[in-house]
Amino acid sequence: MKKIAILGSTGSIGVNALKVIQNNPEKYEVTALAAGRNIDLLLKQIEGFRPVAVSVLDEDLCSELKSRLGDNKGPEVFYGNEGFVRLATLDQIDTVISAMTGAAGLLPTYEAIKAGKDIALANKETMVMAGHLIMTAVKKNGVSLVPIDSEHSAVLQSLQGHKKEDLRRVILTASGGPFRDVSMEQMTTITPAQALNHPNWHMGPKISIDSATMMNKGLETIEAKWLFDLEMAQIGILIHPQSVVHSMVEYKDGSIIAQLGIPDMMIPISYALSFPHHLKNDFSTLKLEEIGVLNFEKPDLKKFPCLELAFRAAEIGSSMPAVLNAANEIAVESFLDGKIAFLDIPELIEKSMEAHQPHPVETIEMVMEADRWARKTALGLLKN
Ligand SMILES: NC(=O)c1ccc[n+]([C@@H]2O[C@H](COP(=O)([O-])OP(=O)(O)OC[C@H]3O[C@@H](n4cnc5c(N)ncnc54)[C@H](OP(=O)(O)O)[C@@H]3O)[C@@H](O)[C@H]2O)c1
Repeated sequence: MKKIAILGSTGSIGVNALKVIQNNPEKYEVTALAAGRNIDLLLKQIEGFRPVAVSVLDEDLCSELKSRLGDNKGPEVFYGNEGFVRLATLDQIDTVISAMTGAAGLLPTYEAIKAGKDIALANKETMVMAGHLIMTAVKKNGVSLVPIDSEHSAVLQSLQGHKKEDLRRVILTASGGPFRDVSMEQMTTITPAQALNHPNWHMGPKISIDSATMMNKGLETIEAKWLFDLEMAQIGILIHPQSVVHSMVEYKDGSIIAQLGIPDMMIPISYALSFPHHLKNDFSTLKLEEIGVLNFEKPDLKKFPCLELAFRAAEIGSSMPAVLNAANEIAVESFLDGKIAFLDIPELIEKSMEAHQPHPVETIEMVMEADRWARKTALGLLKN
């Protein structure tokens, strides 16, 4: 029986992870849950899963949660960064599902690794900001880190039984998001509601906007570089609108191994928890005869400049990927708040990167300092 903590239990990945655990009660048990602000849903999760500890974003939410829990012997309640770290490092936990949005996930994930916990990783921002430190900590502490992102799950599955030295490259697939076929002119008037409307996946707002700008694929390229120890030149991207082939690995004889499946995040979440085994489920199976045709095309880097910005940040390395990530988070928030236009997103990120003097980041604190610098810079640029 694996004891699980979920960071981001009230989000899209968190809720799906709870369904996977609920479907496999003989294998997994919920021990701790961390949410941000959604106390209503967290209370329901506490009632349903009886965790020993929970954590929320701040002290006010913590007080509100405690008073709503009443005198009944409920879970221990923590809050803030300290609370997330305490929760992720509790003695009794075996595996942490890291599924918060954004940079908030970095510290608790890193501390969980240092405390010897296995990680099922959805929070790609952690790898973008500090992939080198995370992978070093994973090796040093002898833990496993298995990706939840469907593309990286597909790569991991396509690597099984093959030799690393035979690998030529990895091909990440991308749906292309909601604006794959719209013109540059139409892109000037995109609203948050249109950008949130992803054709194939139901996800949280931040990753939905990242998919619309294709920054998501840029972040995933950096994530893949660290997870699978690749050069950036070994990672290709193909637009594949059907989201059936979740990614592929090409070997040096030209053979390509791919993983296919219906687009349901419960499948890669299950695999991350059960790796290297596959869990049984009763989902509808992929019917290729009904899909008929699978299309692939190259991404349009002119239309989606966020991709090129991510490649640039990865090539520069050191503190630049953390700056890319933080500037992107500010740009996405500002777009969702109606403060900037869709096409301002890459512009704000690019200007923040241009203002940055990259420097080596040898500790998590240095990464977080680069993150703070980039947020302040991006907000300053917005004001001007
Ligand atoms: N959704 C997908 O299909 C998918 C696929 C692959 C990878 N991912 C990655 O998984 C992560 C989560 O994505 P999602 O779609 O599940 O997002 P989401 O639905 O927006 O959920 C985010 C979760 O993080 C919590 N959270 C947000 N900001 C926080 C903060 N500052 N401190 C503590 N908790 C915070 C939220 O809490 P409240 O809601 O309670 O405020 C919620 O539980 C992202 O890194 C994303 O890139 C998602």
